[in-house]
Amino acid sequence: MIKFATLNLEKRGMETIKVLDREFVPYIDHETIVSKIKEMAEKMNRDLRDKNPLFLGILNGSFMFAAELFNHLTIDCNISFLKLASYEGTNSTGKVKRLIGVNEDIKDRTVVIVEDIIDTGITMDHIEKQLIGYEPKEIKIAALLYKSEIYNNKYPIDYFCFDIPQKFIVGFGLDYNGYGRNLPSIYQTK
Ligand code: IMP
Ligand code: MG
Repeated sequence: MIKFATLNLEKRGMETIKVLDREFVPYIDHETIVSKIKEMAEKMNRDLRDKNPLFLGILNGSFMFAAELFNHLTIDCNISFLKLASYEGTNSTGKVKRLIGVNEDIKDRTVVIVEDIIDTGITMDHIEKQLIGYEPKEIKIAALLYKSEIYNNKYPIDYFCFDIPQKFIVGFGLDYNGYGRNLPSIYQTK
């Protein structure tokens, strides 16, 4: 489903690609992504050193970002992953997203939500509202990407690597209709 002009792995990330019906151009290369994530981890190592934080990666999109981030964390912490399951709710807003996979004791913990991208902030709203019910001490948000132009600003984004414009992107965990998550760099819609 991902069409490369060449199958040479060395060239991955440096050429126009097609994912399903859509063309994408290289936007953020792998080395830049990794170095920004490392900077974020170093900041967390300083900020959260004495907090014994619980990191909660949101699947599926955050898996690459989370793995790279956790690689560089040197502090004591717990790591777990959650998923948002969509189902048709009975309330007026229609779609409700339920947070599944909460196994850790969150009460009185410093929780860090690890998300791939903050767009409108609707997803983060679902996550925050449900996590608050577990009575954490505080909730921090870490996102690889952040579309500040359209974010509702409801919750402060404590950590982010890239503030990007409102264009659709794919790669490094992010998908277009389920494809493109395995791309090592980030591409922008043409
Ligand atoms: P929000 O609810 O509008 O903030 O959107 C957040 C979710 O939408 C993310 O967790 C992604 O799964 C998805 N998303 C938003 N923008 C993009 C994009 O540009 N590419 C791929 N997925 C996106
Ligand atoms: Mg997501």
